[in-house]
Amino acid sequence: MIIAIDGPAASGKGTLARRLAERYRLKHLDSGVLYRAVAQRMIDLGLDLADPAAAAKAAREIDPARFDDPALRSRRTGEGASIVSAVPEVRAALLDFQRRFAAEPPGAVIDGRDIGTVICPDADVKLFVIASPEERARRRALELTRAGEPVDEAAILLDIRARDERDMNRATAPLKPAEDAIRIDTTTLDADAAFDAAVSIIERRM
Ligand code: C5P
Repeated sequence: MIIAIDGPAASGKGTLARRLAERYRLKHLDSGVLYRAVAQRMIDLGLDLADPAAAAKAAREIDPARFDDPALRSRRTGEGASIVSAVPEVRAALLDFQRRFAAEPPGAVIDGRDIGTVICPDADVKLFVIASPEERARRRALELTRAGEPVDEAAILLDIRARDERDMNRATAPLKPAEDAIRIDTTTLDADAAFDAAVSIIERRM
């Protein structure tokens, strides 16, 4: 079974993906970490994030299997990921790893921006998780506070809007729901309620 979960930054898709993977005993891949790893490598090497050739090279050099580094969660890395992820060669370099991950038994829950549209167009279930930008900024601020990063919620809201804009308007694999995706709006749902909504959608499909 493959469950594809797409949606904008801080919509709750990551938490949902983790919990669904546990529930259905599937592997979980947070595909954003791959793009974050590319950005982080460029930052570490002092490369210009806006240089597409350097980004493509960095994407070919990272080890996608090393995807659990908490350093990748910072705001700067997320911003960088959103820049390098618009480069078609970066996306191409990360495609095989994601498809192989999905195809290996026992199946997977993968969350990102283009999982239902590009990476796993034949996924058994496709969810598109959304929430208002203000609510997403509030959640991201809480997450950063817990991680000990200084936060300015207004700045985070601006980041989120900029990231949405870039992710939705890029030419390659923009953020958009697959035609057969089912939407879950988590603006007024906590993690448990979002999980229950997803489980009831999945069980109707099985
Ligand atoms: O989900 P996360 O915030 O970790 O993603 C960081 C950035 O990576 C996103 O803003 C997006 O630009 C990019 N990304 C992507 N495709 C994915 C996952 C993430 O373009 N499947």
